[in-house]
This record gives sequence, C-alpha cells and structure tokens, in this order.
Amino acid sequence: MTQAIRRIAICTGGGDAPGLNAVIRATVSAAANRGWETVGIRDGFNGILQPERYPRGGVTLLTRDRVRGISHLGGTIIGTTNKGNPFHFPVAQPDGSVRDTDRSDDILDYFKREGIDALVSVGGDGSLTIANELHRKGLRVVGVPKTIDNDLDKTFTTFGFDTAVSFATECLDRLHSTAESHQRVMVVEVMGRYAGWIALHAGISGGAHAILIPEIPYNLDKVVAKIGERDAEGRMYTLVVVAEGAQPHHGERALLAPAEIGHAERLGGIGERVAQDLARRTGKDARVVVLGHLLRGGSPTSFDRLAALRFGTAAVRALEEGLSGVMVSLAFPNVVYVNLEEVAGRMKAVPADCDTLQTGRDLGVCFGD
Ligand code: F6P
Repeated sequence: MTQAIRRIAICTGGGDAPGLNAVIRATVSAAANRGWETVGIRDGFNGILQPERYPRGGVTLLTRDRVRGISHLGGTIIGTTNKGNPFHFPVAQPDGSVRDTDRSDDILDYFKREGIDALVSVGGDGSLTIANELHRKGLRVVGVPKTIDNDLDKTFTTFGFDTAVSFATECLDRLHSTAESHQRVMVVEVMGRYAGWIALHAGISGGAHAILIPEIPYNLDKVVAKIGERDAEGRMYTLVVVAEGAQPHHGERALLAPAEIGHAERLGGIGERVAQDLARRTGKDARVVVLGHLLRGGSPTSFDRLAALRFGTAAVRALEEGLSGVMVSLAFPNVVYVNLEEVAGRMKAVPADCDTLQTGRDLGVCFGD
C-alpha cells in the first residue's frame, strides 16, 4: 500500500513558459482540497542544493493565499533554471575547476528529512528526464509537460506553445505591412531548439512565404527562387520564418554558446545569417527580427492557461491514485497519464508526413527543399 500523502513539493525547471504559475496555483489548490501542504522549491532544485544562495529559504510554503490570482501571470513565482541538474551538478573544486557531480541523493535526503512525500516536477525534456531518474531512485514523482517548443513526446501539446505561437503570429501580421511598404525581405527568427513547431505553426498562421525548420535542411537557392517568383508577380516583399535550430543542407547550425556542465548549447544567429545571404543573393534589402525570449513572456493564452490548470490538478489526482513515474498528458480532449519512461530523452520533431507541413506546401510556402 502506498503511504498517505501529507506534504508535496513542486518545482519548475528549464526555460520558463507562460502557464507555469497556473500549474502552481492548480497544484496548490487541488492539494489543499485534500488536506495536503505544498512547498515550492526555488529555481529548479537549486533551493535544496544551494541553500546558501537563499537567505529567505530555498524552499517556501505555498498557501492558497500565496497562489491566489497568479494564473494569468507569465514566469514562475518559484523561479526556474536550466543550470541545476542534480545528476550533473557543477561543483566548484578547490583548484578552481568545476566537477560534474551527482547530487541526487541530496534531494532524496532532503525530502525524507523534511517529510515531503512526493514531487510535482514541471518542465521540458531535461526536467522530465531528471524526474524520471528521481522516480527510479524511489521518489514519488509526477511530471507536467511544459515548453514553448512543443518538442515533448506523448502529449498532444505542452502548455506555453500556444502563447508563443500566438505572439509570433501577431508579430508576422505586423511585419507584412512594413515589409511590403519597403519591398523588403523580412527574416523572423524564432525559438524551438531542434524542433520546428513554433516556426511551422506561426509561419503558416502568419502567412510567411518561406519557413525553414531543423527537420528540413534547407537549400537557400530555393528561398532565392521563391523571392524571385514573388517579385515577378509584383509582390515585392517576402517574409521568411527561420527556426533557431534550422541548418543549411551542407552547413552548420548557428550557435551562441557551447554546452557546459548541466546546460545545453545555446542556439541563435541563423536569422542574421539567412538575412545577409538573401540580401547578397537577391540584391534586396533584408532585415532580421529575433523574437527570442519575447516568445516566453506575457500572459498565457486561455488555451495554455486551461491546459496548465488541468495539468496541475491532474498531477495531484495522479498522486492521490498512488501513481508515480508518470507525466500528465493531453490526449485531446482528455488529460491522461503516460509513463515518464516513454517521454524522457525523446524529442518530438515535426514529422515529414505532418499535415500542417502539407498545408503549408499546398499554400505555396517554401520550406527550402
Ligand atoms: O526550451 C525553450 C527555449 O525557449 C528554447 O527554444 C531556447 O533555445 C532556449 O529555451 C533558450 O533558453 P535560455 O536562453 O534560457 O538558455
């Protein structure tokens, strides 16, 4: 028989995404309804692993009052980090070097010492892989899928994605008129890591003429030809959406920084590269707009907010049902549970037979292939 729950912890890891606060509020409310207490760990697991950094406490009690009225707010009230993997924690050595250290036992010890019975871990692939490993070590864990990139497997979507796509679409809507007025090529770089979901969905919704995604290595000749075709038809401007992880056929991805201990490489810069090449090859004026972290900010759309509220309450129901090692997931229209094992370390890329891609092709969008 599983041990009764009295106290749970919640943590948010990886890049922030609109909807995190809604998950926190939902989890705290659903837990309180069952007489459970919820604590929030600051900045992923750093609140436990680096208590010296938190003079007011690295783990904080989340009461109903504390989470009232936060569902519509961007960010996360407990903070997040993408530099705090407890299995690969960077520990400074006396000689000034940094050692990759497994500090996962410190997490388990803390939970035991503080009488915390279970963890709700809200995050993307990295955080859910950590959640799965903690579950394997005996911690009761339920994961909640978050990422603006929508690159998590086994869920119809992640919260944060719809907000990012809606904002990027609005930006494209605005760029049409200025691009047309100046007869320019406008290149819009969006986040998404190694998946092209944001670029694809926003690009098609926002009427982009070319969309370059990591799943389809591009040949710039095709985009140059598309611009030429449009010019010949008297449509003297072109909008190109480029995913940060897109790469040319025989070329490299654009990187801002290499990977370091517990932190993945930083992508970025492909938009500038594409804009410069297109300007040189077409003789047209080209400008680049990097949407970057703007995609992660602001209030969640109602879709993301509702998904986040559903996910947070479902996580508590999963714990109540005695489950562990599962992720709440949207199997439209229902929320279901899937094993973290099936999610951890698996990226959901845009499949070649994806109908949204087909939609773009039928609309005449150039994908650089
Ligand atoms: O995973 C979400 C994401 O927004 C990616 O699209 C992007 O590459 C990354 O985070 C950037 O994260 P940060 O600037 O916080 O390191």
